[in-house]
Amino acid sequence: MELTTRLVVLASGTGTNLQAIIDACSTGRLDARVVHVITNRRGVRAADRAELAGVSHQCLLLDEFRQQVETPAEARRSYDVALAAAVASHRPDLVILAGWMHLLSPVFLDVFPGRVVNLHPALPGTYPGAHAIDDAWADHLRQGLDHTGVMVHLVPDEGVDNGPVVLSERVDILDTDTRESLEQRIHEVEHRIFVDAIDQLIRNRE
Ligand code: GRF
Repeated sequence: MELTTRLVVLASGTGTNLQAIIDACSTGRLDARVVHVITNRRGVRAADRAELAGVSHQCLLLDEFRQQVETPAEARRSYDVALAAAVASHRPDLVILAGWMHLLSPVFLDVFPGRVVNLHPALPGTYPGAHAIDDAWADHLRQGLDHTGVMVHLVPDEGVDNGPVVLSERVDILDTDTRESLEQRIHEVEHRIFVDAIDQLIRNRE
């Protein structure tokens, strides 16, 4: 039996969190191995990072499924079935959503119960969706919001950025912040607590 935890990472963008996970595996901070990376956009940095690290990767495009079926709902369903099969073929212990911009349906999630982990740049119950940092920044400008945060949570169902929290951490919004400096500090916290949360999940499995 393989003891090192097998991670399949899904990523849509620059992949700095994927990089933090790859680095944590290579230094031994995580007793884990990224065995495969799946992206859903062509030409993203996340794929380059996988390539550089010698991790197998593939791109699965929703658009290609849209061309094969009648309705958007059917396309999403067949996409999630294909995605689940692609992920399952790498026998993951954990499926890591690291900036994955695609809402997963039960046809995917039910294949990996309790094993899908998401990162979100806001505290539990606040600012769900793709614009969490922008939304918090707007509330800072409008009403003086003085903090936001980061959370790592399990994904049990289709709820958006919602599910049992593994770790979360507050990030203060400083008077001296710009939108960019806030985002940078959020990313620094993400890179640390995502690795900590995965470590915690790995230890819970043992
Ligand atoms: C992160 O802020 C994550 O919380 C959000 O998307 C961003 C991904 O960044 N869901 P990266 O691709 O890991 O650099």
